[in-house]
Amino acid sequence: MSIILLRFIVRPVIQSLRASSVRLPPLEPLCMSQTLTFDVLIIGSGAAGLTLGLSLPEHLRVAIVSKDSMDAGSTRWAQGGVAAVLDEEDSVEAHVADTLTAGAGLCNEAAVRFTVGNSTEAIRWLIDLGVPFTKDGEDQFHLTREGGHSARRIIHAADATGHAISDTLLQKAEARENLTLLHDYIAVDLITGDKLGLEHHACIGGYFLNKKTGEVDAVTAKATALATGGASKVYLYTSNPDGASGDGIAMAWRAGCRVANMEFNQFHPTCLYHPQAGSFLITEAVRGEGGKLLLPDGRRFMDKFDERAELAPRDIVARAIDHEMKRLGADCLFLDISHKPAEFIREHFPTIYERCLQLGIDITKDPIPVVPAAHYTCGGVVTDNAGRTDIDRLYAIGETACTGLHGANRLASNSLLECLVYARAAAADIEAQIAQVPSPEPVPHWDSSQVTDSDEDVVISHNWDELRRFMWDYVGIVRTTKRLVRAKHRVKLLRQEIQEFYSNHKVTNDLLELRNLVDVADVIIRSALMRKESRGLHYSRDYPQALPRAFDTVLMSKYISELGSL
Ligand code: FAD
Ligand code: SIN
Repeated sequence: MSIILLRFIVRPVIQSLRASSVRLPPLEPLCMSQTLTFDVLIIGSGAAGLTLGLSLPEHLRVAIVSKDSMDAGSTRWAQGGVAAVLDEEDSVEAHVADTLTAGAGLCNEAAVRFTVGNSTEAIRWLIDLGVPFTKDGEDQFHLTREGGHSARRIIHAADATGHAISDTLLQKAEARENLTLLHDYIAVDLITGDKLGLEHHACIGGYFLNKKTGEVDAVTAKATALATGGASKVYLYTSNPDGASGDGIAMAWRAGCRVANMEFNQFHPTCLYHPQAGSFLITEAVRGEGGKLLLPDGRRFMDKFDERAELAPRDIVARAIDHEMKRLGADCLFLDISHKPAEFIREHFPTIYERCLQLGIDITKDPIPVVPAAHYTCGGVVTDNAGRTDIDRLYAIGETACTGLHGANRLASNSLLECLVYARAAAADIEAQIAQVPSPEPVPHWDSSQVTDSDEDVVISHNWDELRRFMWDYVGIVRTTKRLVRAKHRVKLLRQEIQEFYSNHKVTNDLLELRNLVDVADVIIRSALMRKESRGLHYSRDYPQALPRAFDTVLMSKYISELGSL
């Protein structure tokens, strides 16, 4: 029985006990929490969420919610750019072929064609909104190159593309009267008809912890979209910002949606290695513009692993770096672009140049110390070409979704493109459907009368660290069945402990994220154990070959028993 349902049942029981004059502690007033109602609820304010909000017609009342500031999420940190067919020499067929090759036989070709086919229009939309992409002369945009691409097709704003996109979309969203932007509002769980005992299973909104008041509010809507980004925070080392805890995937999973291909965690080959660097990416465009990967003794090595050398798809490059680091016992390897003119480097990579200089590395002269780190969640909530999930009136877009575009490995810079294309498609679908959707039913207030404030936050911080460390050690770039089984045992214990904590304590941001991370970790491990081959980003020493036929790993929570077996 879900915790929410338990809470719904417990409260009326207490109320009836109070009515029969049994002595009980006073009930907490519930009236502080509120119910807000919109036409459309968008959970997430990254590229996917904001694009959806801005693409909906202005007569619809729309809430766009972020658990932190409105510019939180990975979008703002994107460096390289957006892949699209923009050059006369390039073609849809070539971009499709590169995406299929990177995806290692697992892409859904229809989804790839749909995405790439809509790429030019999606970029045109961003240009019209005013995103300041880097120009190459008066009328042309500069296109850069990244691993796995057979052409220059990455449109970018120097090395801070996400910043430029996020700022522009946010500015436009703030100016739109029909859009209500709610920050510091973290979704706890989705509300579906069956959770309320209604006859339908459709989604009618969600519960949200208002981090400013500490109350849990209900937000209801005729359509709800999950645009909550990925789950790379499940790993100890990641390029992602703190909030990448897979909340939308976990919420959809708990609500009963299919979740697919979660074993395909993309590790970016080159994150800055420096004790004070935190999570800082060195964009693949550095390699695209001629950067060379070096061993500690200064020798190149990538051509031993792939004829495309530094421009091989990133699963191959990340594995090669991991291999060489382990072979040599090295803490990091190096990426060197210093052979290019200093002016070129400063012009193309101003953010990286500045950040490295702050740390004492002059990239116009010195090689950059780099390590791989968890970067992107290729799997997610199963959707169709309009972002529709298995649950009526529930959409999933952006990194939260599994559209079939990425298959077993995402091609660089296809992610922001996917955010744009599917958010726009979801907007069209919502617009077409919404007139026929009934108003959402009233929902009960969240009940906190049975829970207390946590007096042991160390449980959360300890479990958070433990989870991310064993995921890195046992479910990382190179896997074995033995390590995966070990991780499965650990995650089972952690899940029990975290569920118990959740049932007994008031919800907080950290508790909610941890609860989501442990659910996502569980799904990742189960998916990895089911894949008895190596393909794309999933590499198993026990099954080093790919099977002749590719299949998706599709899981549904209702087929997983409490004991944890499928
Ligand atoms: P995000 O941008 O991650 O936004 C998630 C939103 O959901 C945030 O607003 C967050 O606050 C909100 N949220 C999450 N959980 C909750 C909750 N429970 N309740 C309420 N709100 C919630 N891709 C490319 O294509 N090109 C690149 O050059 C590129 N560079 C990258 C560089 C870095 C360093 C990183 C980390 C990623 C990069 N990527 C790149 C990947 C790409 O940036 C992301 O996949 C993409 O931005 C995801 O967008 P999104 O809208 O799905 O989610
Ligand atoms: C990068 O700039 O290397 C990241 C690109 C991506 O993740 O698609």
